[in-house]
Amino acid sequence: MTPTTQPPGASSSPARVVVLVSGTGTLLQALLEACVDPSYGVAVVAVGADRDRIAGLDRARDRGLPTFVVPLREHADRASWDVALAEALAEHRPDLVLSAGFMKILGPAVLGRFVVVNTHPALLPSFPGAHAVRDALAHGVRVSGCTLHRVDAGVDTGPILAQRAVAVLPDDTEESLHERIKAAERELLVQELPRLLGR
Ligand code: GAR
Repeated sequence: MTPTTQPPGASSSPARVVVLVSGTGTLLQALLEACVDPSYGVAVVAVGADRDRIAGLDRARDRGLPTFVVPLREHADRASWDVALAEALAEHRPDLVLSAGFMKILGPAVLGRFVVVNTHPALLPSFPGAHAVRDALAHGVRVSGCTLHRVDAGVDTGPILAQRAVAVLPDDTEESLHERIKAAERELLVQELPRLLGR
């Protein structure tokens, strides 16, 4: 399906981004800090989640941003959850939806209506899925990293937009490697998002 969202174009007004989170939201925080500068050209207009009481939503509320929560368990099935999420997103008229630590697979109602970009903590197409850092370590890779990619119907299979490599250290744990990857993700996201939005 072709998204019906207006493609981002050259415009003096900031591009509208809705961020989806499921947890801590340090990537969201980095983006919010970048957006303080009007010349950045991007505005986070709302933050959505699949669960309440997470730090990611608190970061948005602290800045007075609108938030919304669409829990899967409150819907009869994934299809109706997907439709409800698409409707919640549409209220904020995003030019782009950013999945930044959102741990649910998006369905056709969302993907058919919006341009969705995801940030993933591995060098895709290696190590897709919810345990990318653990899987990369278990495989013994010496280099991992992060990927910004367009979301399609598969799990982390969409076109790659940008990547950054991160060295794996001999004594790395899943936590230590993920922290260094997240530092790279924050930089990559802040650097690339305006370009992806034509700003
Ligand atoms: C990031 O590493 C992001 O790539 C990952 O969750 C972390 C969120 O960090 N997302 C996935 O693994 C999605 N499959 P944050 O909550 O501190 O922003």
